[in-house]
Amino acid sequence: MNHLQGKTIILGVTGGIAAYKAAYLTSRLTQKGAVVHVIMTESAKQFITELTFQSLSKQRVYSDTFQERDPASISHIDLAGSADLVLVAPATANMIAKMAHGIADDMLSTTLLATTAPVMVAPAMNVHMYRHPAVVSNMNTLYDRGVQFIEPGDGLLACGYVGKGRLEEPDTIVSVVEAYFAGQAAPESLLLAGKKVLVTAGGTVERIDPVRYISNDSSGKMGFALARAARAMGADVTLIAARTDIAPPQDADIEVVRVESAQQMYEAVAGRFGSADVLVQAAAVADYRPKQAAEAKIKKSVDNMVLELVKTTDILETLGKAKTKQFVIGFAAETGNTEGYARDKLVRKNLDLIVANDVTLAGAGFGTDTNIVSVYDVEGLVFDLPLASKDEVARKVLAVAAGRLNGVLQ
Ligand code: CTP
Repeated sequence: MNHLQGKTIILGVTGGIAAYKAAYLTSRLTQKGAVVHVIMTESAKQFITELTFQSLSKQRVYSDTFQERDPASISHIDLAGSADLVLVAPATANMIAKMAHGIADDMLSTTLLATTAPVMVAPAMNVHMYRHPAVVSNMNTLYDRGVQFIEPGDGLLACGYVGKGRLEEPDTIVSVVEAYFAGQAAPESLLLAGKKVLVTAGGTVERIDPVRYISNDSSGKMGFALARAARAMGADVTLIAARTDIAPPQDADIEVVRVESAQQMYEAVAGRFGSADVLVQAAAVADYRPKQAAEAKIKKSVDNMVLELVKTTDILETLGKAKTKQFVIGFAAETGNTEGYARDKLVRKNLDLIVANDVTLAGAGFGTDTNIVSVYDVEGLVFDLPLASKDEVARKVLAVAAGRLNGVLQ
């Protein structure tokens, strides 16, 4: 089925060397039956002509807001209202900044403010510009407003640097747009439809004797929020919970497996990992356990007692290194140097994402209903949330995982 047939797409072309690729993009979208209205910025016209887009789209090309050719209508409002999707490709740092700040000083930025259609942005710029905190912050603002980013892996840029910043290949952009229209009937509610998601929660219990144990402050709330969010996105969810302060979600559609120790959690997770699409390791797993758990209650005798501890299996590291198709997400609760430790764990454990928080901050960490997190992938910061509910953190983390699993980079 051709999902682009009859769809109205506004293609915003901004001024970068990659503007020429927008010509091919226009051609592909048009061939697939979409009605493509191109809006160019003034600087885009330095790189490519209106006539190119007009010939390929067979539609009038817009650039100047005040070039009103039809007295009965106002172009940017009409265009904005007619769109099923607005795609900005290539999007310069300047246009991304205008979008983030609501500036409307040309036809494209005005249309972007006037539209209620979904917006996709394919950035293209120099790698240093791409990593500039201003650009990262503007992109985060737009991401939070629901703008979808289409970004490539590394590639050679026109300026000679290698890195992220290059425009995604037009054929891939077309695939993302097609996937969007194909899945439009089922947006967020089915982002993880058909996917098997394993979530761990709580703190493991390492027995000293039948009445005593070593554990930690994990409440289980973050893991539970993740399990609920994954289920709400249509996933088939298994929640593997160790000791928790509250009861696991009662949703009959979430399979709950109770475990105690790190070893039991390892066995429960490893046994299901092969058929899983996503592993979210939110549990606080003990790093050490008593070498010997006494069979009977240890009696008070000597003045100084030494408890010998041995390392537990690092579940995340073992499975991260063994992963094939699985998208693996780890957590790092730190009390300082959060980014450094988290990114080190991401690499060491071969993770796709790591959700890091500094548990010393008010509103973050154990027992609270909120969290303050920064999420990293191997290239750096993906997004951060200053103070959000654990439900919101869960939704955003899983939305990134879903996007990447479905081939839509975010
Ligand atoms: N983890 C795990 N198995 C372990 C220890 C940790 O699966 N035996 C997982 C945690 O569930 C978490 C991530 O690894 O998702 C990071 O845990 P953390 O305790 O912060 O990292 P460690 O590697 O144990 O490093 P350290 O304790 O030195 O900070």
